[in-house]
Amino acid sequence: MIERRDPSHPSQPPPIGRVVATEQKPATPHQFHFWTANETSIGIGAIVRVEGLGAGDSGRVVYGVVTDGFAYSDLATPLHDVVGAEGDPAKAAEHPTVRQEIRLWTAAVLRQTPEEPLQPVPLGAVHVASDVDVAQALRMDAYLGGAQPTAIPVGLYTSGGLEAPVYVDADFLLGPEAAHLNISGVSGLATKTSAVEFLLASIFQHFPPHKGRVAAVCFNVKGPDLCFLDRPGTLQDEDRRRYERLGVEPEPFQRVRYFAPFKADGVNLNTLRTHPDLVGDVEPLVWGLREVLDYAEVLLNRDDIDAKADAFIDFLADRVVDREFEDGFGGVHRVVTFADLERLFRSIFDGLELASRGGDSWRTHHIATMRKVRNRLANISTRCKGLVTDDGPSNDLPWGRFDDRTVYVVDVANVDPLGQDLVFARVVSQLRERLEHRDLGVDAVVVFVDELNKYAPADGPETYVKKMLLDISERGRYLGLVLFGAEQFRSQVHRRVVGNAGTVVFGRMDADELATPGYQVLSPAIKIKLATLPIGELMVRHPHFTQPIFVRFPRPAVLRGRDGVERYPPAADLPFEDAVARQLVKLDRRVRPNQVKDVIADRREEDVRRALAHTRQSRPQDVLAYFKKQLGGRVAAVPAAARESVAPLDPISEEPY
Ligand SMILES: Nc1ncnc2c1ncn2[C@@H]1O[C@H](COP(=O)(O)OP(=O)(O)OP(=O)(O)O)[C@@H](O)[C@H]1O
Ligand SMILES: [Mg+2]
Repeated sequence: MIERRDPSHPSQPPPIGRVVATEQKPATPHQFHFWTANETSIGIGAIVRVEGLGAGDSGRVVYGVVTDGFAYSDLATPLHDVVGAEGDPAKAAEHPTVRQEIRLWTAAVLRQTPEEPLQPVPLGAVHVASDVDVAQALRMDAYLGGAQPTAIPVGLYTSGGLEAPVYVDADFLLGPEAAHLNISGVSGLATKTSAVEFLLASIFQHFPPHKGRVAAVCFNVKGPDLCFLDRPGTLQDEDRRRYERLGVEPEPFQRVRYFAPFKADGVNLNTLRTHPDLVGDVEPLVWGLREVLDYAEVLLNRDDIDAKADAFIDFLADRVVDREFEDGFGGVHRVVTFADLERLFRSIFDGLELASRGGDSWRTHHIATMRKVRNRLANISTRCKGLVTDDGPSNDLPWGRFDDRTVYVVDVANVDPLGQDLVFARVVSQLRERLEHRDLGVDAVVVFVDELNKYAPADGPETYVKKMLLDISERGRYLGLVLFGAEQFRSQVHRRVVGNAGTVVFGRMDADELATPGYQVLSPAIKIKLATLPIGELMVRHPHFTQPIFVRFPRPAVLRGRDGVERYPPAADLPFEDAVARQLVKLDRRVRPNQVKDVIADRREEDVRRALAHTRQSRPQDVLAYFKKQLGGRVAAVPAAARESVAPLDPISEEPY
């Protein structure tokens, strides 16, 4: 925490520099120059305090951050030095008189006190900033103290042996004043994912009680990145010291819930958190027809925007699904699953064919539109088998029952891009709706999207997901819906998505990226610093800070993804019966795997999956008995070839189009 300056010791260290102003380089209200001794702890990014000395200036204090540095000697031109050494660099060193050399620095003003009238920086003494000065300079005093502090530690400002905690303001990081965070920088060195993990931990520990309950939804889009947030990682003493200085406990997340879809077999989970010790707390993410139809726009606007198809989907969602529906040809349907829907489609197409030759519309919907929608729906259930199911009820995030300080990890790393879009669209829309109605269970949610350039690219078509991310960026802060996005190249993300991020963080940057127009406001020295930034150091822009500030943060206290897969190697996929047995054992420890295998021998996989899904949903006392009941009586064994003909219609996904 902040160390207060001791008022009983008014003596302060001597100044380390002095402001200079010349006609060429005057001091202005926003920038000044100062010189120091050649031996100095000042460097780019250092925060300094200037005290006015002259008449009328005493009492004025200006805080600034160093943005550039120069060295000079008294030579007017390099020619004089060359001639003096007779063109021999070795002789230059033997020169009897050492030339005067000075260090001159440029600093940008962070804050002036008093703030009014705003005047050029006085030609005063320059001091290195203390903890208190850093708090003042960054206007953190406004939210660090008081009855309801809203400070969230983000890292340590470190310069010349001094270390001071830097805080961001929860009202500006998580709404309602401003919101959202964007972090960019090169792969592996920028520590983007790590920084977000640390910051989430810091938020969970410091989110002010008067702001209510907070949760995070993290989409795992890359390998094992976020699969071990509940496991402790390896920290060094230096990290622990930083945690202590920042007032954050170095521990992994206490409450994490993992959700992952199944693989195509519908029983093995599609995640890298499948080690037997850990897979027990991964919950399947399984959606049925209803969940898909609600967000079917996602499927349509990838390559075509079609109002007719939209209207037909709305018709299906509003009038057909989950209710008795008469198809107009004498058939009555109750459509719950994809297979039911396919049955309805067939009966409509057959009906149309029989009823009138050449009839090409049904209830105002053109047959071509219906075919298109049918194909798209079939497409998603094929490409995202395991996420989208035909077998029984869905299993979703606990809408309405979100817990305080809990991370919900949704693992979509191995899901088809179309399926990923569907997951984003549905999860984020649900969050938005629930927050709007204030019935999510928490008051604010941080949504972390890594690889944002993939989901909200600067160019490319206006996809549903992009529109949705734009919508959160522009309106989320009123709702408590906050986007934390990370990407390698900020210039590749949609301008309004990054532009709306109140807090912007940079790790080590690529020099080519720094040459793009978005970075023109940075001085060349700051750019060089960014291009060579060491691991664990970040540059932070925040609404309270008038200039970007460099901070160091400790390693996240959670197990890194790639260490996680070494310590907990993912299990190989289990054969169907074993996977089913394992899931039932998970629901009820008394279940014996062999009993399960006997029960499901010779049964059709889709029936088994359906029975399993119902059992999972109901969580009965006696799991095996319930499962058996769901599975129903044994059908006489039918040879495989004959089974085809007695089976109900094939799942639509297998139908050629
Ligand atoms: N505060 C820190 N201090 C030192 N090392 C760190 C710190 N934070 C992370 N690291 C290390 O830096 C490496 C890269 O971190 P991370 O995976 O977060 O980077 P990234 O920017 O997300 O990379 P990518 O673009 O590949 O996803 C990791 O090996 C991690 O252990
Ligand atoms: Mg990363």
